[in-house]
Amino acid sequence: EWTAANVVDELVAAVREQIGDRRAICGLSGGVDSSVAAALVQRAVGDQLTCVFVDHGLLRAGEAEQVERDFVAATGVDLVTVDASERFLRALAGVSDPEEKRKIIGREFIRVFEQAARDIVGEHASAGDHPVEFLVQGTLYPDVVESGGGSGAANIKSHHNVGGLPEDLQFTLVEPLRLLFKDEVRQVGLELGVPEGIVWRQPFPGPGLGIRIVGEVTRERLEVLRAADRVAREELSAAGLDREIWQCPVVLLADVRSVGVQGDGRTYGHPVVLRPVSSEDAMTADWTRVPYEVLARISTRITNEVREVNRVVLDVTSKPPGTIEWE
Ligand code: XMP
Repeated sequence: EWTAANVVDELVAAVREQIGDRRAICGLSGGVDSSVAAALVQRAVGDQLTCVFVDHGLLRAGEAEQVERDFVAATGVDLVTVDASERFLRALAGVSDPEEKRKIIGREFIRVFEQAARDIVGEHASAGDHPVEFLVQGTLYPDVVESGGGSGAANIKSHHNVGGLPEDLQFTLVEPLRLLFKDEVRQVGLELGVPEGIVWRQPFPGPGLGIRIVGEVTRERLEVLRAADRVAREELSAAGLDREIWQCPVVLLADVRSVGVQGDGRTYGHPVVLRPVSSEDAMTADWTRVPYEVLARISTRITNEVREVNRVVLDVTSKPPGTIEWE
């Protein structure tokens, strides 16, 4: 009989068998898959697991706290956070091209993760302890099928952790979720006590807000976008639309200015785009018919609360022809 509790028991036993008394690391992104994989391995081998969370500074409001505070409190994982926002911003300076941004973010991510992994390995090796031998990945069944069903490093999906982890990282993979579908992973996550905010999280791209600023990524622009995005998410959640909406990118058109009147006078600010979509698998999508009164609340609040934004526009394009993200 399929119950989340049975599945957890079986997977925990299998992970224990695989890892034994050795050590593992896991890169956390804040998303469902890596979180549930980490929680499962933690249940199996406790503090033989160390998780690494690379904060690239391109996260939404509250996301780092969700991992550092809520996830750790719920699971008890041993977590190393690397605050690398300076480094990512420096690398992104002057870059506007979307694919260039992705490349840079992916490259920096790998460097930071590898360094953190080496530090962890070094720590335990010098203590005369077992070196870290295993890398935990939140690979799901559809990922396995997509990548040809093989095993080994070639299976590491580039969607995870921005650009995928390097293939020459010398670890054996632990992929406890590789026979599960997303809805099953969510049930397993709930069974393991992973916070609901993580279990039900909508998809969010690895390169984060870096590909939601049309134009150069700067600290100031990130703050503006983060504030607008927070308002949109609050209001969509309050309206009970989180399940109906697959995801809702909020995009800052940083290179566009328009005239407005806000407060005491004329402003020359930036538009943000709301891109709520409904989808089954992100391959195709339709724009979500969000009720006008919800859109009105979002628009009023963003233009009141975020000084730099004086216009809120709605994207009414399906995919195809438009992709979900703007970049
Ligand atoms: P598009 O924009 O191609 O997005 O319609 C489809 C889904 O993929 C996500 N996405 C990404 N995820 N790295 C990721 O990890 C990326 O570079 C990336 N680009 C798009 C997007 O949010 C949507 O869920």
